[in-house]
Amino acid sequence: FMSKEMAEQPAVLERLALEAEDQIEALAEAIRASYGAYMVGCGTASYAALTGSYLFSRIASRHVNFSPGSEFKYYEHFLTPESLVIAFSQSGETADIIEAMLAARSRGSKLAGVLNAPRSTLGRMVDLRVDLNAGPEQCVLSTKAYTAKVAVLLMTAHALAGTSAEGRRLVLEAAAGIREMLAPAWIDRVREIAANLYQAEHLFVIGRGLSYPTALEAALKIKEVSYIHAEAYAAGELKHGPFALLSPDTPVIAICTPGPAYEVMLGNMKEMKARGTPIVAFGNEDDGDVSDIADVVIPLPKAHMWTQVLTSTVLLQLLAYHTANRLGREIDMPRNLAKSVTVE
Ligand code: AGP
Repeated sequence: FMSKEMAEQPAVLERLALEAEDQIEALAEAIRASYGAYMVGCGTASYAALTGSYLFSRIASRHVNFSPGSEFKYYEHFLTPESLVIAFSQSGETADIIEAMLAARSRGSKLAGVLNAPRSTLGRMVDLRVDLNAGPEQCVLSTKAYTAKVAVLLMTAHALAGTSAEGRRLVLEAAAGIREMLAPAWIDRVREIAANLYQAEHLFVIGRGLSYPTALEAALKIKEVSYIHAEAYAAGELKHGPFALLSPDTPVIAICTPGPAYEVMLGNMKEMKARGTPIVAFGNEDDGDVSDIADVVIPLPKAHMWTQVLTSTVLLQLLAYHTANRLGREIDMPRNLAKSVTVE
């Protein structure tokens, strides 16, 4: 199922770009009208929401807050009837998100949902919905629902900025890039890297700016499906402690896509390299700077930096999948996990 669901991503994104306009405009309008908007999600959904907070800031100069669903109830006391709370959930049945939305409702706040299951508990609770329309997701690992949420956020941020057509264009560009990456040549490349990575006991995934939530999402995917201990860091935070763990046995996956964080990211990678740490970089292969520093570069299709949030995520999903495959893991049903977490 994981492989099938990853392969469905271009079609899911295209569908959203072509069909979700009205719901996205309505969500943008609700954010505009609110006095304080908050996004909540658990696990993968929380990283999509965190990505959204960067996108709203960069594209629409708007502060949209973010909280992991399970933490929301401990600091929900600022909510008022002018607040908007947006739930992100594939299943629409995650207990912590339902709790958060009940709390928001009791304070009179407006409720919105970015959901894949319109008839779910959350689907019935919210005043306003954007349907991901991604089709059933059966693998315990969330893949297509994640990229669909990020695409919705990219388009909503553009709708808020009054540039909706550009938002749709970027999502279609991402769909084309992902389609390109699902071809055998690209997959073989990822498989080769997985064949080196699978023996690691610990690894880091680092990013800066928009790549930081992508790093968190990648580390979660690697952990849950391969059982390798993968930690994500904002690259600038590494020096504040985790540097002590760097060694030749601790590979670092660096998401080094073009954008405002690019130069400083190269500097961080050089410092790691000086400590003998093997580096796998996701970036532009024909970029001399990245390939001089990294031991291996996994290339991304050339695209806008916001589109690369989506393409780099899919490459990291593929890496998690092939690493787990190499280790003979139970891919669709990792140990100790359930598709939907219905208890707090
Ligand atoms: C992701 O790969 C997970 N298995 C998990 O983090 C999941 O996304 C989370 O439990 C939230 O689920 P939901 O989207 O159905 O609310």
